[in-house]
Amino acid sequence: MKILVTGGLGFIGSHTVVELLEEDYEVVVVDDLSNSSIEVVDSIKEITGKEIKFYEADVCDLDALEKIFSEQKIDAVMHFAGYKAVGESVREPIMYYENNLVSTLHLCKKMLEHDCNKFIFSSSATVYGDPEVLPITEDCKVGGTTNPYGTTKLMIERILADIHVAHPEFTAIILRYFNPIGAHKSGLIGERPNGIPNNLMPYIVRVASGELEILSVFGDDYDTPDGTGVRDYIHVVDLAKGHLSALKKAIKDEGLFYYNLGTGKGYSVLDLVKNFEKVNKVKVPYKIVDRRPGDIAACYADPSKALKELGWKAELGLEDMMRDSYNFILKQSEK
Ligand code: WQD
Repeated sequence: MKILVTGGLGFIGSHTVVELLEEDYEVVVVDDLSNSSIEVVDSIKEITGKEIKFYEADVCDLDALEKIFSEQKIDAVMHFAGYKAVGESVREPIMYYENNLVSTLHLCKKMLEHDCNKFIFSSSATVYGDPEVLPITEDCKVGGTTNPYGTTKLMIERILADIHVAHPEFTAIILRYFNPIGAHKSGLIGERPNGIPNNLMPYIVRVASGELEILSVFGDDYDTPDGTGVRDYIHVVDLAKGHLSALKKAIKDEGLFYYNLGTGKGYSVLDLVKNFEKVNKVKVPYKIVDRRPGDIAACYADPSKALKELGWKAELGLEDMMRDSYNFILKQSEK
C-alpha cells in the first residue's frame, strides 16, 4: 500500500513516515522544505533502513501534484503540510489562508481525479476555541478560534465534510492534536523551529541548552492548580502511531470521522519545567510575566473515542517527552 505524506519531513510528518515504514507501507513524501530540512530523508533511512520516494514541491502546485499522482499509484494521503505559527498567522492572514486552504483543495481535487479517496488530516484542538467543558470530547462545540491559523484548520474540516457529502466514497479522518512534543528516541528527528520558538517545549530545551537565557512563563493567575496554563502534552511518537490507527480505519470503513489525539492528562507550565529539570538534571531559569493574549487557562482531551474506535491510546508519559525532547537538541548540537 502506497501512502502520500505531505509535509513528511516536518516534525509530525517525519515521525509518522518512520512508523509507516516500520509497518512496511510504501511512502511517498512531498515537502517544499519551507520549514524542514532535506537531511531528514537520511535520518529516516538511518532509523528504519528503508527508502522513501521524495518530491520537493509545494502542495499548492497543481502541476506538481498531477505529476506525483500520475507517477505513483497513491492509495491514501496524510496531509501534514501547512503553516502553523499562531503569531505569524495574525500578521500574515492572507498567506495562511492561501497556503493552508489552497494546498488542501488542490490535494483533494487531484485525489478525486485519480480515484484516491482516503484522507487523514492534521487538525488541532485549537478548533474547540476556549472549551466550555473539560475534558474535551469530539462532540464539543467547535468555533471561536482566536487566530487565522486555527481558523484555517476549522475551515478545512468544513471543506472535507462538504467533499464527503458530494463524494461519499471520499473518507476523511480528522485528527485533532493536542500539544505534540518529544522526539524519536534515536535523537535523529525532532522539532526544529526556525528562529525564537513560540511554543513552550522548544523554548524550554533552548533555555536548558544555554541558547536562550530565561523562560517567560505567561501568567500565573489562571484558574488552574498552580495558576499557570494547563495543556495536554502528547509524545510525537504516540501521535504518529495514532495516524497509523486512523489509516487502518480509513482502509476499512467509509465515512467522515473526528478523533482527539491527546493523553487525557493536563500538565501546567511549571509541571513541565520541574519535570524537565528532574529528568534531565539541568536548570531551566524562568520568570513570571503577563499572560499571552489569546491563551486559554486549560485544555485537555477526552481521548476515549480514539481508544474505542481506533484501538489507539498514548503510551508514553511526561518523563519520556522531557527526555526525548532534550536528547534531540543535544544530538543536534553535537553535529
Ligand atoms: C503552552 C503553554 C502558554 C511559551 C499552540 C497552538 C496550537 C498548537 C500548539 C500548532 C501555554 C505557555 C508558552 C512560553 C509559556 N498548534 N507558554 N511560555 O498555546 O497550547 O498551542 O501550539 O502547531 O494550535 O495554539 O501551546 O506551547 O505555545 O503553550 O508560558 O514561552 O505554555 O501560555 O499555557 P498552545 P504553547
